[in-house]
Amino acid sequence: MRISQETSFDEAEIFELYDSVGWGPWTRDIARVCRSLVNSHLVITARNESGQLLGLARTVSDDEMVCYVQELLVNARFHGQGIGRRLLEHLMERYAHCRYFMLTTDHESTPEGLANHAFYRRLGLIEHHEQGLSAFGLKVADS
Ligand SMILES: CC(C)(COP(=O)(O)OP(=O)(O)OC[C@H]1O[C@@H](n2cnc3c(N)ncnc32)[C@H](O)[C@@H]1OP(=O)(O)O)[C@@H](O)C(=O)NCCC(=O)NCCS
Repeated sequence: MRISQETSFDEAEIFELYDSVGWGPWTRDIARVCRSLVNSHLVITARNESGQLLGLARTVSDDEMVCYVQELLVNARFHGQGIGRRLLEHLMERYAHCRYFMLTTDHESTPEGLANHAFYRRLGLIEHHEQGLSAFGLKVADS
């Protein structure tokens, strides 16, 4: 498996990846997703020897104070093979100098949240409230 930075994206390939994890709000407008990838601070992908796209992660960052991991996903057919760990560890190392390394995920009262919390905790991340912080935001459309 190879982790590398990418700057241009194929809509069909990106659709297949996002569709595999059931992210409807993203696959409804895949051209917008591709624009968001191009506009990101960093996009890294995981590909196998044949070049197949296995997973992707992207950040929004000022490369000094904050790194926000906006998306991290692995094709559902390849979950549980260490790909998510490789992607997130790559980002944690790349942005180790930033004061804030953060992300938003579903609440652990949901099935997706429960799985994601287990994954992020395994990778050493902690929730805001565990370090005296809170996160605020405007209401997310179609959440
Ligand atoms: C979350 C996600 C990225 C994890 O990727 P993955 O490649 O399946 O995870 P890995 O195989 O790298 O797992 C890494 C570690 O987390 C643990 N882990 C992963 N999912 C877990 C779960 N549901 N419950 C418990 N532990 C879990 C693994 O056991 C593994 O531990 P180890 O490395 O110490 O053996 C993947 O499940 C995914 O794409 N989900 C759908 C999209 C999504 O919800 N992304 C997060 C949005 S913020």
